[in-house]
Amino acid sequence: MSVTSESLTHLFPLDEAAIPEAWRRPKPLHQRQYLLDGELREWSGATQEVLTPIYTRLTDGTLAPRVIGSYPLLDEAESLKALDAAVRAYDHGRGEWPALSVAERIAAVEKFTRLIVDQKKEIVQLLLWEIGKSAADSEKEFDRTIDYIRNTIDALKDMDRDSSRFTIEEGIIGQIRRSPLGVVLCMGPFNYPLNETFCMLIPALIMGNTVLFKPPKHGALLHFPLLQAFAEAFPKGVVNTVYGRGNAIVPALMTSGKIDVLALIGSSRVADSLKKLHPKSNRLRAVLGLDAKNVAIIMPDADLDVAIKESVLGALSFNGQRCTALKLFMVHESIAEDFVQRLATEINKLKPGMPWDEKVNITPLPEPQKPNYLAEVIADAQAKGARIVNEGGGTTAGPLVYPALLYPVQEGMKVWREEQFGPVVPVASFAHVDQAIQYIIDSDHGQQVSIFGSESQEVAHLVDQLVNQVSRVNINAQCQRGPDTFPFTGRKDSAEGTLSVNDALRSFSIRTVVATKQTEANKQILNDIVDGQESSFLSTRFIL
Ligand code: G3H
Repeated sequence: MSVTSESLTHLFPLDEAAIPEAWRRPKPLHQRQYLLDGELREWSGATQEVLTPIYTRLTDGTLAPRVIGSYPLLDEAESLKALDAAVRAYDHGRGEWPALSVAERIAAVEKFTRLIVDQKKEIVQLLLWEIGKSAADSEKEFDRTIDYIRNTIDALKDMDRDSSRFTIEEGIIGQIRRSPLGVVLCMGPFNYPLNETFCMLIPALIMGNTVLFKPPKHGALLHFPLLQAFAEAFPKGVVNTVYGRGNAIVPALMTSGKIDVLALIGSSRVADSLKKLHPKSNRLRAVLGLDAKNVAIIMPDADLDVAIKESVLGALSFNGQRCTALKLFMVHESIAEDFVQRLATEINKLKPGMPWDEKVNITPLPEPQKPNYLAEVIADAQAKGARIVNEGGGTTAGPLVYPALLYPVQEGMKVWREEQFGPVVPVASFAHVDQAIQYIIDSDHGQQVSIFGSESQEVAHLVDQLVNQVSRVNINAQCQRGPDTFPFTGRKDSAEGTLSVNDALRSFSIRTVVATKQTEANKQILNDIVDGQESSFLSTRFIL
């Protein structure tokens, strides 16, 4: 069946009865509470209406946006109160939370985890409705987040065991541990609003920092069921939420100079401007996951079955809305036509529909301006010589955009350098692989690359060229962040700092040493402290 705007429109639900019972949300969630200094406070000021990308189909065949709730838009003054609460709770590292032992902080995070597991159904449902992520992927995002928290706890126990001993070198006795950094401003992205937020927030908390947490614009309501859990599991002021428009509240937080860590997964443009607002640039640490334009290089001897399968997944999982998505394909000219034809066939096997539909692949996009932007990118490429290869590619119905495979793409087109972050698959051809390498060298981004080929010498040559351009080279596989124990970072405008279960604990802490000269008197003091369990830092106890 050919794809038309009308056929896509018909995928949207006509009424509540067209929605499977498990996913129905008969009542909007009008959130008025936010978490500040350990209390859920009521907000009576401005609010942000939340529209779902799952529009309602009207009987006249048009689509109407649907409101599923609203949340507070705090003003600058209220956000600064939240900042003060976090600063007080940290109290220059002397607050209750940073002074707790590792075991006590782990116990609080474990309590929080138990509380949020109880909220799974509501959170997964809000994920699906707010950002249009498929039911299966929404559930996966929740479960992956819980696994991440549990693995973080285990990694911290290991780290604590390793540092629970004294080191003696050159007549100096030292104990080396990791200490918190201070107040962390944590802002996650809309595409993984739960998982990527928690990949920063949990390591930041468990290392003893206090947190100001701003949910993303799309994917804010799903954090509401967590506010009570934060309040119950952590001492007051340790987690504070700032709901609001980023550009209205975040600049004041940064110019205060009281933020010690900017933890942001978002755009390099925003990260750049926020960092510059901080008056003490050396005090500020940044942990950033930013834009990417990951390239797939397809060599003439590539196993095309593998390459096509990975390309579809890499380019179009969650409609291409992943920072790790493959956003440009560079294919050897000898196989380019064959590659695009086969890729087009596979793309057209993807199922568009609503997020609750069984085995759905392409779902409505949460950013209201995105369909227009994608149409602009496609038109620009067409005007400059590319064609849409797959039948129906680029067809749109409201927020639902059928993927478009563009070929041949070349320099000068918007899609050549811009990060489309959506269901547009640009393919270019090259005569010599150096052209693909040069593209990556010239890029402002340096996150990952995928190489498809079977000749080991050629693969080795490419690996050696590319490991100094990006932070992960995938061989015969799409780009991706997981497994979450692997370092996730990037060069240039793609990242700062490293995230992973282990690395994030390091990113949100600093190594600190307590040292003394190895005299009898000093040894006696250390022994007394350790035997009497007089210090949290100077201690040889460890958690099993
Ligand atoms: O948006 C960027 C995400 O970190 C991608 O993660 O590769 O697991 O989908 P993923």
